[in-house]
Amino acid sequence: MNIHPIHETMLSRVEREQALGQHSKVLWLTGYSGSGKSTIAVALERLLFQAGLVAQVLDGDNIRSGINSNLGFSLADRQENIRRIAEVAKLYVHSGLVCICSFISPTVKMRQSAADIIGADDFLEIFIDTPLYICEQRDVKGLYKKARAGEITGFTGIDSPYEAPIDPALTIKTENQTIDESTAQIFAFVSDLLKLQQ
Ligand code: ADX
Repeated sequence: MNIHPIHETMLSRVEREQALGQHSKVLWLTGYSGSGKSTIAVALERLLFQAGLVAQVLDGDNIRSGINSNLGFSLADRQENIRRIAEVAKLYVHSGLVCICSFISPTVKMRQSAADIIGADDFLEIFIDTPLYICEQRDVKGLYKKARAGEITGFTGIDSPYEAPIDPALTIKTENQTIDESTAQIFAFVSDLLKLQQ
């Protein structure tokens, strides 16, 4: 390939991390549709920002409507969705930012492939552990109803698999707590890891 390496002249990740006063990492939120991932991700982004830590959320809103707009919900398309997201998250890590990824990412294999691309040291898996029946009760987007009616096929938890993480860095049980409490729990866990001791 005719690609010329320019790495020696590029700003390094460490230089950027030092300027920002933070360690760049990927916080990978996984869980069912309607589990609260994206709401927590956005609240966490703001909480980190208020603490002087710069993060960027990637979720369906900015990924599936843009870079991955050609992908559906077959397992192969989901795998490709996650692969591209992991590559983008890796760029964010190199830019010194914290990247909060909020995707169902339903299988162990998909999340492992994301960790492999990003690098295990920079990948923190956070399980948003909301039971399926609660996600279905909430049905914020009305999609569970459609899936039950057969209007959507291949819906996660209904007729497409979800495998819970085996050994996540953190598990958040949202069932009996508010969004703010769930967000604070993640913040308490990650803030020391992310702050650069100057
Ligand atoms: S993933 O499986 O590839 O990680 P992703 O997080 O990007 O999924 O998208 C999930 C969102 O897409 C859901 O929250 C829901 O709004 C919507 N969606 C549409 N069809 C499906 C489906 N068949 N299964 C799951 N989510 C779906």
